[in-house]
Amino acid sequence: MLGEAAVKDSRIPKPYSEKHMDETFSHPQYRVDLRRYSEKEYNKFVRLNTVADWSLLSWKDVGKPFEVTNYSRERTEWEKENNQAMDPHTSWTYFNKSFHEWFIKDVPKEKNLGKEQFMRSLASFKPVQVKQAIGNLVQLQLWNYVHRIQDGIWDPRGKRALFEGLHLDRPRILFLGAAEGYEAMQLGAMYPGAEIVMVDYDEFCKTTRFGEFPEHYPFLGENSSTGQWKVTYKDDLNIEYVVEDIRNLDFGKEFDIVLSVGLLEHFPDKYKPEVADWHRRFLKEGGYAILTTPRNQLRSRLYYHVMADVMNHTYRELMTVEQMGLYMYEAGFDILRHGYIKVHNGLICRPR
Ligand SMILES: C[S@@+](CC[C@H](N)C(=O)[O-])C[C@H]1O[C@@H](n2cnc3c(N)ncnc32)[C@H](O)[C@@H]1O
Repeated sequence: MLGEAAVKDSRIPKPYSEKHMDETFSHPQYRVDLRRYSEKEYNKFVRLNTVADWSLLSWKDVGKPFEVTNYSRERTEWEKENNQAMDPHTSWTYFNKSFHEWFIKDVPKEKNLGKEQFMRSLASFKPVQVKQAIGNLVQLQLWNYVHRIQDGIWDPRGKRALFEGLHLDRPRILFLGAAEGYEAMQLGAMYPGAEIVMVDYDEFCKTTRFGEFPEHYPFLGENSSTGQWKVTYKDDLNIEYVVEDIRNLDFGKEFDIVLSVGLLEHFPDKYKPEVADWHRRFLKEGGYAILTTPRNQLRSRLYYHVMADVMNHTYRELMTVEQMGLYMYEAGFDILRHGYIKVHNGLICRPR
């Protein structure tokens, strides 16, 4: 089967097509998922509109987000050496480098190496080495489960369910804090002819996280001339990547979609209205602000605990979809759709 060949031979540039619809393949670094979401999954996401009237909700009802306070070793060592708190821009450069190293891991190979390291550590009779080897193995197993088995980070089916039905023709899409740009590419596959502008102030995101995003990763979307399903690749899309601080952007109200994924939860409450405003400032009349943030659930807390050294360089909260919606509602947005996908909450909203 062509898809299986592609898993073994990533030199085939565009290995998947519509022929692979409803199939999923496990690559050493990630999962390819061309399955459509089932009715049950769709309902779980888009019909889970738990709040009927946002104006009736208060912080007393929903409580405040959970703050993740165990920071990475890199951050704590940097702060000790520099005798000051790490600033957000520096913390993102550490985070992006560290996170990217996990995305490019050949997980089955690393797991074998990890097991060998563990056996050697046992033979050394040195508790520090044994502890380190176990820690590495636990992280690898968790990463394998979350990213390669569950596909919780990219979650193409959940994202497609969140993004579908927006009735947009050749939209202009602005991705704030784009990192590797995954969600804008998924939107671009679903809304053909899209013009995508990605913005991130960490240059490494443009050159490496996005630059080295696998060219043979298939995004499922639509063929605009037939209305049928179509597989789209990164280099089929019209993408401009801008390295800049969001606060310095001088676009007008020219975008049909302003998107952020994992941005709002990195700002304490006093900055959240400003972050919400970034989603309004560049939006055309009638456009959509789309946001996702990690869910506050036990398994996410566990993930950020075990992966602290990989993930926790920046201020971070875990929140519920009701908390997230209330932040945006109070900042002057109407909530058009809200729900959760595998590990994130999702909102589609529009300035009131
Ligand atoms: C948590 S990441 C987004 C999650 C992403 N999907 C990932 O996989 O890492 C947030 C991104 O926003 C960027 N960012 C944060 N504040 C920014 C600002 N003021 N201007 C531009 N980019 C910013 C960071 O550099 C980072 O790449």
